[in-house]
Amino acid sequence: MKLIHNQAEWNPLWLNHLRTNQQIGLVPTMGALHDGHLDLVKKSRSTCEVTVVSIFVNPTQFNNPEDFQKYPKTLDQDLEKLEQAGVDYVFLPTEKVMYPFPSKLKFDFGDLEHVLEGEFRPGHFNGVGIVVSKLFHLIRPQVAFFGQKDLQQVAVIKRLVDDLSFDLKLEVVPTKRESDGLAMSSRNLRLNQEERQKALILFHSLEKAKAELFSGKNWLEIQRQIESEFEHEHVAKLEYFELIHPDSFETYSSFDSSQKSSVCISAFIGEIRLIDNMPIIS
Ligand code: PAJ
Repeated sequence: MKLIHNQAEWNPLWLNHLRTNQQIGLVPTMGALHDGHLDLVKKSRSTCEVTVVSIFVNPTQFNNPEDFQKYPKTLDQDLEKLEQAGVDYVFLPTEKVMYPFPSKLKFDFGDLEHVLEGEFRPGHFNGVGIVVSKLFHLIRPQVAFFGQKDLQQVAVIKRLVDDLSFDLKLEVVPTKRESDGLAMSSRNLRLNQEERQKALILFHSLEKAKAELFSGKNWLEIQRQIESEFEHEHVAKLEYFELIHPDSFETYSSFDSSQKSSVCISAFIGEIRLIDNMPIIS
């Protein structure tokens, strides 16, 4: 496994792979790697001859400076996991490499920016759009891998690839969960024991909603019931619980089994903000 730090180091390697017709898969991450990230790596390894994982905690996508400061950093363990997973290259740029000048670029993803994550994390998707565009230009992969765990991010990146004609294919990998159902997330590392237990409320709410939707219960009633369950919790604070179309993120007020849909949730568990989602009709 080789570490690369900038485009000058990567260019000759990239050219060699291009000449020998080897497909390059890119897995962008912010480190603090868990088995969910490693599923993306596995998928890349089974799809492409060469796998590049990037690790960069991107400052421009954090709307909350404290969240950026406290983002877990576990580089030594990350590199060990990636070596074991058979990764070919790890791209480890500094902030100076990614942002030689402060970026003033503004993306407008339309409605996607005004609902759910867009509404609660203003500027977040602009930062994601900038850093992912830069990574695509720097690494030039044929395939890029993203997790369904961040469903709205996937919708944004699909738009980015179509709107800017990036010549690559996107692969979306299902959410990896702990054995009790909690979606794996780097932020789970910051939960204490009580919060870790309480965090299950996200998964349980999604499961309940799915079962009730299929048993014919009205969506707005399900939504109200989950909101009221959260009101009785003091460790957990609900931000949103919505039934949406997974590409447009249009929010539905009723369930229609002929339309694609997913339920999305965001909640604070103590100080830690977690998100999760569940496909209902794919
Ligand atoms: P990060 O949160 O590190 O996630 C990196 C990738 O792993 C994302 O595509 C995310 O959706 C995926 N992922 C996270 N948890 C997962 C899980 N439990 N199961 C499956 N996949 C999971 O997402 C980002 O970083 C950043 O926004 C990034 C795209 C790297 C841009 O900075």
